[in-house]
Amino acid sequence: VDIVGSGPSSKVVATLPSGESVEVLLYGATVTSWKSNGGQTENLWLSEKAALDGTKAVRGGIPVVFPVFGPPPKSGHPTSSLPQHGFARTSRWEFLGKSASEDALGSNSVKLDFGLETSGVSDEARKAWPLDFALQYSVTLTKDSLQTVVNVRNEGEQSFEFQFLLHTYLRVNDISKVTINGLLGVEYIDKVLNATTHQQADMSLKITGETDRVYKSIPQDTTSVLEDGKPLFDVVRDNLQDTVVWNPWVEKAAAMGDFAPNDGFKNMVCVEVGTVDGWQKLDKGEVFEGGQIIKSLL
Ligand code: BG6
Repeated sequence: VDIVGSGPSSKVVATLPSGESVEVLLYGATVTSWKSNGGQTENLWLSEKAALDGTKAVRGGIPVVFPVFGPPPKSGHPTSSLPQHGFARTSRWEFLGKSASEDALGSNSVKLDFGLETSGVSDEARKAWPLDFALQYSVTLTKDSLQTVVNVRNEGEQSFEFQFLLHTYLRVNDISKVTINGLLGVEYIDKVLNATTHQQADMSLKITGETDRVYKSIPQDTTSVLEDGKPLFDVVRDNLQDTVVWNPWVEKAAAMGDFAPNDGFKNMVCVEVGTVDGWQKLDKGEVFEGGQIIKSLL
């Protein structure tokens, strides 16, 4: 009953009694919509040309990146034959169920659980990364927040290394008025500047051109997105130390076939929490858990 549609475009939709809602495509377990303020405010940016039929990773929402972030190491790493950002975002996940709850103060929440195991990925991906894993991904909606948490388990005999990231496309009204706080003093790799290392010197990061930065080992828990000086979102990391800030700007946006409208980059910024600097290692039977809470503050 909770699954809407059938085939590759099926999704799970959950709504709170107060009107807030979330939509998760089974393909990639990609959150494609999250509305707060009684359902009035869409918090995620989704390209008008995003493929929602399972033919391509979704351009927008919250794609799940696993087991490698970005282009994999050229050779010599078990992930080397995988596509950019791995296979989780292009695999069909299983819907494991929905649980609704109400706390003592009468606040409602709903949690959706999704699973992906080795047997659920394409033959191609399994051949490229022949390791036994199980992912569980929980998406919890409250009145003013969305929590997304992954649990990674090594189900095999062999240990493995992975990276993980939540590629969240936050919706903003006007990127020229956006500032991102909570990264002061943090070292980052600037992918726009030949992957050189820098340190965040300003309290507020402004997006004024193509931006593609990997902030590493961030001591602060929260990255805040403000517009016109007003807090829009707090992105709170849980057991994830890194955050990518990405905006393709004019040329890169135009070069992506599934990015629309062309000036859509003015209405989005990706704040992507993850563990992408180096590798997480799991031995047989071990588990890793990490995620985020995004608070909608408007
Ligand atoms: C970001 C990367 O996380 O994702 C960028 O840092 C990349 O380098 C962007 O361009 C989009 O990736 P993709 O594979 O979805 O086009």
